Amino acid sequence: MKIDGKPYQTIWLDPKDEGIVHSIDQRKIPFQFLVEQLTGLDEVCVAIRDMHLRGAPLIGVAAAFGLYLAGYRHPGNPDLKKYLSSAGDQLLATRPTAVNLKMAVDRQLAAITRLEDPAAIISTLKKGALQLLEEEKENCRMIGVHGLEIIKAIASTKGGEPVNILTHCNAGWLACVDYGTATAPIYLAHDHGIKVHVWVDETRPRNQGARLTAWELGQHGVDHTLIADNTGGLLMQQGKVDMVIVGSDRTTRSGDVANKIGTYLKALAAFDNRVPFYAALPLTTVDWEIDDGVKEIPIEERSPDEVHFVEGFADGRIQQARISPQNSAAMNLGFDVTPARLVTGIITERGVCPASAEGLARLRKQA
Ligand code: MRU
Repeated sequence: MKIDGKPYQTIWLDPKDEGIVHSIDQRKIPFQFLVEQLTGLDEVCVAIRDMHLRGAPLIGVAAAFGLYLAGYRHPGNPDLKKYLSSAGDQLLATRPTAVNLKMAVDRQLAAITRLEDPAAIISTLKKGALQLLEEEKENCRMIGVHGLEIIKAIASTKGGEPVNILTHCNAGWLACVDYGTATAPIYLAHDHGIKVHVWVDETRPRNQGARLTAWELGQHGVDHTLIADNTGGLLMQQGKVDMVIVGSDRTTRSGDVANKIGTYLKALAAFDNRVPFYAALPLTTVDWEIDDGVKEIPIEERSPDEVHFVEGFADGRIQQARISPQNSAAMNLGFDVTPARLVTGIITERGVCPASAEGLARLRKQA
């Protein structure tokens, strides 16, 4: 994706110093554009936990680099593999919901099980991280290719009017390596000259929609309108939403979709108004070990301060302002689960399938 005309991806290994991973610091967007340098495991853990970088596929890629950097910084550790296994636990403790984190850690540790030579372990971890990065990039590109067909079909019924797409949180390229999941079909449709307009949920409490999605859609020249989180239902009743596309942090093998808090309410409203509701995700986001998302997906609880305070730009700097009484309690649950029955389809890199065990299993077999 381009920022002010310059191509970027969210994370990359320094071409001249293989001990440095560069990552866009999402905490400052849209007010400042900063790239952070990650040079060790602890920095990667902080970056994931404190959401300098976020979004399921990106968290997975960052974790893969985290394990690589852990090895790179400690080549002489007498029990390197034991150390890397504890580094994996440290990474897993940063954020609980996005399954890509676990997938990446498991995959990296599995790749080194038979190795003993530190140099071979470190180069395997480096290769693994770079490979996952490329895979996730390609996955998102293909999600775009498959999702485009759905947008095309809707566009053909609109008589030249724009296709109105509602999205929640940021499942854009900032949440991935490139393209995004929910946004990939939108970018591709726009690039194909199909008129699209995006309703962007602000996504309280951290406002990833207002800050990140609106910004990246703007950078790509996609027409969009920011709305308060509770507006989507009314827009659907008024016939102003043609489809919903969201991302996912973990989808069960039966098609229950965990995504940013508030997604479930949009799915209910979409169901009631017969608006198609799609989740776009790479198969790396499917947790093949669980069925019942409501019971089995761990929901991250973050600091209540994210609810008590809003962050914005004033007087030339990023500032926080309290919006609640000093003594009120607040709760901050990060994700909810949309049951498969409310999901029209799942858009993956392998094609679009029904949100069901059969649908996902079929795509997994192809993979
Ligand atoms: O808490 P966040 O900002 O990491 O939550 C992100 C989301 O909920 C995204 O929709 C999700 O990661 C989709 S992946 C492109």
